[in-house]
Amino acid sequence: MAITRAEAFAPATVANLGVGFDILGLAIEGMGDRAVVEFQDNPEILITDIEGDDGKLPREADKNVASVSARAFLDHMGEKRGLKIKLFKGLPLASGLGSSAASSVVSVVALNKLYGEPFTYEQLLPFCLEGEALVSGYHADNVGPCLLGGITLIAGITVDAIQQLPVPDNLHLALVTPDVAVPTAEARAVLPTEVSLKTMIYQTGQVARVIDALHRNDLEALADGMEKDMVVEPARANLMPYLEEVRFESKRVGAMSVFIGGAGPTLCALCDSKEIADKTAETMKAIYVDAGMDALVQSTHVDRRGAIVTMSE
Ligand code: HSE
Repeated sequence: MAITRAEAFAPATVANLGVGFDILGLAIEGMGDRAVVEFQDNPEILITDIEGDDGKLPREADKNVASVSARAFLDHMGEKRGLKIKLFKGLPLASGLGSSAASSVVSVVALNKLYGEPFTYEQLLPFCLEGEALVSGYHADNVGPCLLGGITLIAGITVDAIQQLPVPDNLHLALVTPDVAVPTAEARAVLPTEVSLKTMIYQTGQVARVIDALHRNDLEALADGMEKDMVVEPARANLMPYLEEVRFESKRVGAMSVFIGGAGPTLCALCDSKEIADKTAETMKAIYVDAGMDALVQSTHVDRRGAIVTMSE
């Protein structure tokens, strides 16, 4: 019997991994978005409800990333029916945790299930990217790992340009998300449009080092390479409250490096044990609390599953 209703979950992600602007990202175990989708005879897409966004996200189908990515999928299939989408936001908006990517992915993964899963998750990427592009531009460093899990290199959007990279043993992460919105579009607007050849050589070297370190299970080199961004972090640093304090204090309690999560304001610390990640998360939180700001912290690790179908009937 045909499936008429499906629910999916899509995890939080951290894009860039410091030096890998727009080409590297990883999925995080724990938080994420959920969506339930079902066909309707009316050809429109209807967002029936959104929970968890404090009413901030648009309900109009052409303005919400979940429906825009679903629309790309339906159009590709030449579908005459429309869709009802109910979205459960588990991720804070404009936070650097891949919130728009998770919503773009979750509806498409559920929709793929309604069709009997004709596409691999790599093949779903271009549909998801249509949603992500609506608010964040065409970059797949969140939607890639969100779909596939793990640590992902997105050198393009064709299937052969998407590579799963090895996840080192003992890679733990502490993340802090202060209660301040940094919309990706704004954080992209401050970036330089050109870099010198010298900078390009240095930055390329660091990205190569990060990828090599992943393949060699070398956390030291990974941590060091990730923190060597000469292009994006300097331009965005003043949008990230307490970046230097978080870096200094996190390292004082044993973290190996600190980098901006995606477009921020989330900051991520790479740690080599759960104990240090726990301690780092506590330390990060205290910095914002002392400054009178609320902050969400996580002590977590790489999610290897990516988006999943959680129910179908
Ligand atoms: N690579 C993107 C950026 C991720 O840093 O702007 C944010 O969505």
